[in-house]
Amino acid sequence: MSISVTDVSKFYGRQQALKSASFEVKSGEIVGFLGPNGAGKSTMMKILTGYLPASSGKVAVCGLDVTENSIELRRKIGYLPEHNPLYTDMYVTEYLRFVGGIYHLPDIKTRVEEMIEMTGLRPECHKKIRMLSKGYRQRVGLAQALLPDPEVLILDEPTTGFDPNQVADVRNLIRTLGKSKTILLSTHIMQEVQAICERVIIIHQGQIVADEKTAKLDTIHTAGDTIIEVEFDRQPAPEQLIAIQGIMRADYNGSSWVITSQPSSDVRGSIFRFAVENDLILLGMKQQKQSLEDVFQALTTK
Ligand SMILES: Nc1ncnc2c1ncn2[C@@H]1O[C@H](COP(=O)(O)OP(=O)(O)O)[C@@H](O)[C@H]1O
Ligand SMILES: [Mg+2]
Repeated sequence: MSISVTDVSKFYGRQQALKSASFEVKSGEIVGFLGPNGAGKSTMMKILTGYLPASSGKVAVCGLDVTENSIELRRKIGYLPEHNPLYTDMYVTEYLRFVGGIYHLPDIKTRVEEMIEMTGLRPECHKKIRMLSKGYRQRVGLAQALLPDPEVLILDEPTTGFDPNQVADVRNLIRTLGKSKTILLSTHIMQEVQAICERVIIIHQGQIVADEKTAKLDTIHTAGDTIIEVEFDRQPAPEQLIAIQGIMRADYNGSSWVITSQPSSDVRGSIFRFAVENDLILLGMKQQKQSLEDVFQALTTK
């Protein structure tokens, strides 16, 4: 297990930012850490990287307890913080070499050149960090995080501040990195998770509310109603449909019936039997998938 979080809580004074959160990330996974602003994403990431102690609970990265092995873990974890504390008066190349020095990297110059290439910093690398746009500063932060060739990457909102083309670049870079590294990235953007992550952990008010393969997110039962679109050869009376157990509404839109059923009840079998019993031909039946946005909203609004 690359990352293992057990029952982690965090208090800032009296405010509780994390409530007994637990999850695991396996080696080589790309996991999205999704939640609205203020959910506790950055707090969790600071704890994972050893920058902030948890109030209670256990965190291990690469099998090492983060509170007991913080020095050793600095080289195994690459961390892109949300507010990148860069020395803005230094030149990009100069800064990266400086960081490489802190890590005691062998052949720093070559390594820095590789990272400049990989993160697309080449056109801006002769400038002072202060002169860079937010997107390019993020790239410097990424290059810095990647310098020691860490096993685990913790990226706190890695694409904020980028324009759409740059977002695509960075997502591609993350996907490429994901082939050889374990990545946990936070975002408040659902599409970002869909675009890069195999799995998603959703956090809301400090609690983990979902942990699921991205492809299966739409199967999470939320409080929302289920909508089924049904077509018959002849039209029954709406009362007949509503009489079916589990169906709450039936609206005819001119070509098909839009049937609302109770959350988490599957009435498709009953609709089929209803058609047979009433000598109707079922021309079509389709259960509307809930969008991932619906799932996210249902889980993170209360
Ligand atoms: N240093 C701090 N002192 C007090 N409260 C904080 C501090 N950092 C974060 N918080 C609070 O903790 C909660 C979680 O914040 P954060 O982890 O930054 O969420 P996210 O990254 O998901 O937006 C928020 O309510 C935030 O206001
Ligand atoms: Mg944050």
